[in-house]
Amino acid sequence: MSPSSLLILGATSDVGRAIAHEYAKNGFDIILTGRHLEEMEKSAKDLEIRHGIKAQALYFDALDSASHQAFYDSLDNKPTGVVSVIGLLGDQEKGFDDFNHAEQIITTNYTALVSILNIIANDFKARKSGFMIGVSSVAGERGRQSNFLYGSAKAGFTAYLSGLRNEMFKHNVHVLTVNPGFINTSMTEGMDLPKALTLQPEDVAKDIYNAQQKERNICYTGWYWRWIMLIIRTIPETIFKRLGL
Ligand SMILES: NC(=O)c1ccc[n+]([C@@H]2O[C@H](COP(=O)([O-])OP(=O)(O)OC[C@H]3O[C@@H](n4cnc5c(N)ncnc54)[C@H](OP(=O)(O)O)[C@@H]3O)[C@@H](O)[C@H]2O)c1
Repeated sequence: MSPSSLLILGATSDVGRAIAHEYAKNGFDIILTGRHLEEMEKSAKDLEIRHGIKAQALYFDALDSASHQAFYDSLDNKPTGVVSVIGLLGDQEKGFDDFNHAEQIITTNYTALVSILNIIANDFKARKSGFMIGVSSVAGERGRQSNFLYGSAKAGFTAYLSGLRNEMFKHNVHVLTVNPGFINTSMTEGMDLPKALTLQPEDVAKDIYNAQQKERNICYTGWYWRWIMLIIRTIPETIFKRLGL
């Protein structure tokens, strides 16, 4: 492994794949993790050929929190940075009726990530170095009727990342929160998204790399979401509840 390596949680996501290429292009070795080993092994070979770095693929299931410590202990070379791209939009209506589905959404977007990131944070703390990136969402900034199970879990994740940043600062570990708006990925496939506000995964990956290198604390991608969300957050609740968003 080169001195810089990135562990990607959620490497099979469109954004995760783009992040892998962005960091590999910039000389990072890459550890791809997720539930589709064969697919990731192919991606790892592709990354090595294209960018001349070292890449490996490892099985990781976020929902199996009992396996997280052993998973991290099994890494021969601990990474210099980690990014979590794991997310599950799920089905809001189904989750409203079926708590198992609601729990899957909440666990995938929040508690499972707390489990693995706490383990990694403790290692980085002991080593007094490293960076941690959490991909949250603007959906975590205000609950909406169309996706408040996902949004509330993202809100929890955003607050976790904020506190983690406070905690890790004194240990020389940087934590970056990423708040994307719309991205053209499998998560949003079939949705009628406004073209002008929708980014490609490669744009998001570039924004993340630049923000992490500059040690930004919070990154909205695209940048205009910072201002859109400022307006959305200031709408009084009496009006907001009537908007049917
Ligand atoms: N697309 C958007 O418009 C948008 C907007 C705001 C925020 N985001 C966030 O951006 C991130 C990337 O999203 P995306 O659009 O690229 O979505 P995506 O393609 O659906 O990716 C979601 C990723 O999460 C992984 N994942 C889900 N459950 C998992 C589990 N139990 N264990 C391990 N991995 C698991 C998926 O792996 P499998 O392949 O194994 O399912 C996949 O790699 C997510 O955190 C999402 O919430 C996306």
